[in-house]
Amino acid sequence: MSSPRRAFLQTLALGAGALTACRAKTPPPQPSFLGAPISPYGERSPFVHSQRQVSERVTRTPEQASSLTPLADTYGIITPSSLHFERHHSGVPKIDPAQHRLMIHGMVDRPLVFTVAELQRLPSTSRIHFVECSGNSGNGWAPTPRTTVQGTHGLTSCSEWTGVKLSLLLDEVGVQQGASWILAEGADPAKMTRSVPLAKALDDAMVVYAQNGEPIRPEQGFPLRLFLPGYEGNANIKWLRRLKVVDKPYQTREETSKYTDLMADGTARQFTLVMDAKSVVTHPSGGQKLAGPGFHEITGIAWTGRGRVTRVEVSVDGGATWKDAALQEPILPRAHTRFRYAWDWDGSEAVVASRVTDETGYVQPTRAELVDVRGVNSNYHNNMIQAWKVKADGTVEYAVV
Ligand code: CO
Repeated sequence: MSSPRRAFLQTLALGAGALTACRAKTPPPQPSFLGAPISPYGERSPFVHSQRQVSERVTRTPEQASSLTPLADTYGIITPSSLHFERHHSGVPKIDPAQHRLMIHGMVDRPLVFTVAELQRLPSTSRIHFVECSGNSGNGWAPTPRTTVQGTHGLTSCSEWTGVKLSLLLDEVGVQQGASWILAEGADPAKMTRSVPLAKALDDAMVVYAQNGEPIRPEQGFPLRLFLPGYEGNANIKWLRRLKVVDKPYQTREETSKYTDLMADGTARQFTLVMDAKSVVTHPSGGQKLAGPGFHEITGIAWTGRGRVTRVEVSVDGGATWKDAALQEPILPRAHTRFRYAWDWDGSEAVVASRVTDETGYVQPTRAELVDVRGVNSNYHNNMIQAWKVKADGTVEYAVV
């Protein structure tokens, strides 16, 4: 069994020899005209077209819908803010930050109302973390051949988030004895409301106002979002307007009729907030076509709500055998981690898959292993191993191992 470090060196060795196959036949064209002038706000190349895709779980109203990140078109671990997945329950509110307020009250000594500017005066923290909707890859409960990794896994994205540690704000208001949860409420028309354990609020939770170096995008919660690293996306309340310190979870709609996991015996798991370890190969993935036999880099992302990814293994034979992939630095807690594996494809049909292990020792399950524990009634928290079949003609299709 090779170490991730050795696997990385193997990748380099194989990569160098493999380039002969992909040499272009003509030199680069000469530039012959002046280019575009400077501009106040940058746009991507007109030759680049990747975009979010509306979820196949369509609703009758676009304000109550989700859109998926084109994972196969993103590199490294950061998702461009413009391509971060969306999930809205009542549309994206247009909020003037000068008018917005965050109220913290309930079981506190000094209830306070903060303006956005006041929060931005406080000591700040920046951290890279994923956000994943707990419905991501939920199609795995009833597999239907989806065409792309965007369709199966596009409800996860990773950004650098900047804001204030929530523990600092809770210190300011003075949490009273007996408090054990906080209730977080958004300023969207749905007033999205979730209960969060006080221990999480005092640990690594943040109130964020920036994403990837700019103010947080409206569809991600401008001007303020509650950020709970590793927790299911829905609990990361966008357009945050209120935090109430309480002594119990409030059993809101989003933690009773929704965002619960119906088990085989008819009971439901509640407050399954931490996202389990998951990985997916983004290349080769559904809808792509390999140019021919020879060197191909198998790459993808892995993540876990419980800390760091420690290992990713790749199979090219449908899970019969596994080999270590190289983990690309940085390997950050509760962030997407990029993995790579050098593959010399012999041109015969292959089934490619990845399997992650996280720092708690938890190993990503097969579909059968997951169903054994969870049954098939759930909509949420499906983290099964995802496979892609590479056919002899190079086309790639959805597969289950
Ligand atoms: Co859950």
